[in-house]
Amino acid sequence: MSDTPKFKVTIDNITVEVPAGTTILNAARLIGGDVTPPAMCYYSKLENSGGKCRTCLVEVSKGSEKDPRPMPKLVASCRTTVMDGMEVKNITSERVIDARKGVVEFLLINHPLDCPVCDQAGECDLQDLSYEHGSEQSRLDFPKRTFEPEDIGPNIQLHMNRCIMCYRCVFTAEQLTQRREHGVLERGWDSQISTYLNKALDNEFIGNIIDVCPVGALTDKTFRFKQRVWFTKPMDAHRDCPTCSGKVRLWFRGEEVFRVTGRKDKWGEVEEFICNTCRFDKKRASDWVIEGPTKVNRHSVISQNHYRGAVEAQKDLIREIIGKEPKMLLDIHTISDVNRPEIHLSEIHGPSHSNDFLPNQQLEGQRKLEVGKK
Ligand code: SF4
Ligand code: FES
Repeated sequence: MSDTPKFKVTIDNITVEVPAGTTILNAARLIGGDVTPPAMCYYSKLENSGGKCRTCLVEVSKGSEKDPRPMPKLVASCRTTVMDGMEVKNITSERVIDARKGVVEFLLINHPLDCPVCDQAGECDLQDLSYEHGSEQSRLDFPKRTFEPEDIGPNIQLHMNRCIMCYRCVFTAEQLTQRREHGVLERGWDSQISTYLNKALDNEFIGNIIDVCPVGALTDKTFRFKQRVWFTKPMDAHRDCPTCSGKVRLWFRGEEVFRVTGRKDKWGEVEEFICNTCRFDKKRASDWVIEGPTKVNRHSVISQNHYRGAVEAQKDLIREIIGKEPKMLLDIHTISDVNRPEIHLSEIHGPSHSNDFLPNQQLEGQRKLEVGKK
């Protein structure tokens, strides 16, 4: 048995016991759901990640049993370890909600609002965050910073205008591959991700930077502009791969595989990093052993009524403790009218098909009807 002492920490009125050295964020992840602060730069599989974006700020209302004084400033939960008897407020703190709003506003200062044409739309952490904490208007009077397009290789598209400088891709390249060929150049307002001397990123595991990027700054060139993710159906699959675990997620529309990604958990982190061959070269369903439909348990558009994480089981309890309706279900029908109302994409066995969506004519007719009503 481990000798590490256990500390009790209470987050949003829910107490958990965790080994000493655990961060507040990871303690909150044990509770799950709304109690867990969002994280745009921390990534549990990458050493030294975190501490850059400030989206995970929380209020420590009691430092510890021995020293109960509250911490004067909000702290980054991904970098602050728990103390025994610590009490933390996340969504039960007005200060945190207010600060998070400010952080989102800062992240959006330079981020273009190009979700309608961005491949990350529907599974973008910043999009989710701004829906929840963003304001409708920007207060920035200056033009957003923009960058010249840069070619960083055959498979990955860098769209620097969208980058939020979380450093995840840099840590991924540094820790998963033998040679790091890209990094952050310059500082402050001028900082940017770039390959040194425009060298292509051709390492066998470099495709994983696409999966770790929380926004649409790094996208898959083999998938670009081909499908909106919410029209695709994710299926878990595997193959006998000599380079990686071969455990992937295939994104189907009809019988066609549009992209291959790593499998992400409920925090949006890949469970196992996959190689470029699996990601970019194996695009036929026959290359894979299909395991079945993915059980999506995140609250983005792709979840489509799928959220069945730890919170689902405890939703009544959580509602009682935090005094709010927990966010866990997203009804695609309330925000999109493209699939047939009687069809629940999450419940179709196998990939979705064009029959599951409204034919264009009918969709047009329906939209005209709605415009007429207004
Ligand atoms: S490109 Fe993506 S992963 Fe890399 S620093 Fe920018 S936002 Fe983060
Ligand atoms: S996730 Fe903690 S600072 Fe970014």
